[in-house]
Amino acid sequence: MKFFVDSADIDAIAELNDIGLVDGVTTNPSIISKSGRDFKQVISEICKITDGHVSAEVVALEAEKMVEEGRHLRKIAPNVCVKLPLTMDGLKACNILSKEGTPTNVTLCFSPNQALLAAKCGATYISPFIGRLDDISLDGMELIEDIRTIYDNYGYETEILAASIRSANHVKECAIVGADVITAPPKVIKALASHALTDKGLAAFMVDWKKTGQTIL
Ligand code: E4P
Repeated sequence: MKFFVDSADIDAIAELNDIGLVDGVTTNPSIISKSGRDFKQVISEICKITDGHVSAEVVALEAEKMVEEGRHLRKIAPNVCVKLPLTMDGLKACNILSKEGTPTNVTLCFSPNQALLAAKCGATYISPFIGRLDDISLDGMELIEDIRTIYDNYGYETEILAASIRSANHVKECAIVGADVITAPPKVIKALASHALTDKGLAAFMVDWKKTGQTIL
């Protein structure tokens, strides 16, 4: 399973990349706004940290303009992936850009039928939002399972990029149901390594090792 970081925090992305946990990055207009930084500058900096796909989202609402914005964003770096909303215009733009060989990420997916349309339009990634479905008392993970079944039924190559991930448990469930990629904030990715028994066990090992009076180096 690929790990993407859902963030525009350069230091946090670089830190996770150094550990070997970054296969790509996703951003959205809210993340960019929160960073308070220049959109294209941030994308350019992220693209220098990782060779993986870095999603940069268009903000036009009409297909031709989305394509124009997408082509412009692609000039930032070869690993820019153009992120498009799941609307009819977004699908049309996805179809055009995909045929040009541009990697595309169709975002704001909340139903299996929407995911089916994105695959038909050649999307590289479909981004179903788990957390936002859970927020309204629906089952976000069921959506991932349904898309997995549909894509496997027909051999679609569009990758399921599970988004709006809020917890370590979401990541585990995604891995079990077969999402191709998860994108999560740095704090969620870091939380995957935590376990109280690991901390307790390590503390005990350190105490016992000290008693031996030995050193390794
Ligand atoms: C994914 O591409 C989105 O940027 C993100 O996962 C949305 O997450 P949120 O629902 O926590 O804002």
